[in-house]
Amino acid sequence: MKILCKAEYERELARTRDERMAWWRDARFGMFVHYGLYSQEGRHEWLQSFENVPKEEYEEFAKTFNPKPGCCREWAKLAKAAGMKYMVLTTRHHEGFSLWDSKINPYNSMNACGRDIVREFVDACREFDLKIGFYTSLMDWHHPDGWRCAFDNEARRRFLDYIEMLNTELLTFYGKIDILWYDVSNPMQGWEGWDSLARNQRLRALQPHIIINNRSALDEDFSTPEENIAATQRDWEACMTFNRISWGYIDPEQARPYCYTAQQIIDMLATCASEGGNLLLNIGPAPDGSVPEDAIEPLTTVGKWLEANGEAVYGKKKRISSWIDFKCSGVSRVSRDSKYVYLWMRIWPKGGKMGLGGFIEAPKSVTYLDGTPIDFEHRGHRILLKNLPQAHPDKTAAVTVIRLEYGEEAPFRFASYYPQHWGGEDFAGENKI
Ligand code: GLC
Repeated sequence: MKILCKAEYERELARTRDERMAWWRDARFGMFVHYGLYSQEGRHEWLQSFENVPKEEYEEFAKTFNPKPGCCREWAKLAKAAGMKYMVLTTRHHEGFSLWDSKINPYNSMNACGRDIVREFVDACREFDLKIGFYTSLMDWHHPDGWRCAFDNEARRRFLDYIEMLNTELLTFYGKIDILWYDVSNPMQGWEGWDSLARNQRLRALQPHIIINNRSALDEDFSTPEENIAATQRDWEACMTFNRISWGYIDPEQARPYCYTAQQIIDMLATCASEGGNLLLNIGPAPDGSVPEDAIEPLTTVGKWLEANGEAVYGKKKRISSWIDFKCSGVSRVSRDSKYVYLWMRIWPKGGKMGLGGFIEAPKSVTYLDGTPIDFEHRGHRILLKNLPQAHPDKTAAVTVIRLEYGEEAPFRFASYYPQHWGGEDFAGENKI
């Protein structure tokens, strides 16, 4: 196979990106699953490193690894109920344990408990019509060359072959896979050390439509802000733990106070939907693989909310202006597409009315997402919503979406942050900046 140089490769990726990424840009919301030997201890997926657990001692966890039947189905079922559109599973985390029937790595779930978890995961995703992502760690604490590769070139060659063979298995054993999600390119530096340019081209040849994240020291298709919802100029996906403590399982009773609420998750989705990014929200299944209890209520509520309000999330595009915070009212968030502006009301206004600043053009209509009209008046560059109910119409999560309909192209917020009646004079319609 001819390996392209970096510039050619990137040109080729750019040429096919819109087509490959279309489903992902539409999806906006996915589930990350961190499951492995570490789940049994419930003390973080970096346990082996953080606690300096000797290799032989850590390997003992493989003897007690015993996921209950149907656990992957539980994850997928919850993801579906939450309104998520794809899943990414840690097929092999830094501990080096493969969750599939690997022919290359005997330290695997088939040898431990007779189960190919990756196969079960893939089947579950397909059953619930979710796109499939494989997380794959570059760093490996179990393979003897996983550290030596940094200073011994022979070891490096062996280790790179190992990494490529593992990923080749993943991309050939299970049919169509949608995302390859690399993680932690330690201990080597840069894509050259990891030979990512050539390997990724060979892996892409196995799944030409696949999308790859930016953690093999190449930019590839999308960036991955972690524990931080930060928009970038390119496609991005924020990955978030559920409790800000650990990606792996921790005791739900103790974790609960640190977990996100449905409202906080909806707020994250608002940022993603208005900034052209995705939210990959993690669960760390219990030792037996069951869904962590603390995630069930918030995710189910979000899913119920998305059933009625998904229109404001899925497929929504990045706003053009980033220098003005696009808040038509301080208590709202905003997403948009070509025809509509969606106001996400977190706090419902009292007194039955509210103004939206900055709209020079009148909308054609203002409605709730079920189509119920809202009375409004357009004056100058202000929309006045009238006769609003006293309490949030949304009873699921108390986040009500109001839709402003425009013609072909919904406007961005045109007006400035200047006071509307500067020195008593009305600037209506004139402060176009
Ligand atoms: C990290 C951590 C890891 C986690 C990942 C998720 O870099 O090493 O444990 O899997 O981020 O983004």
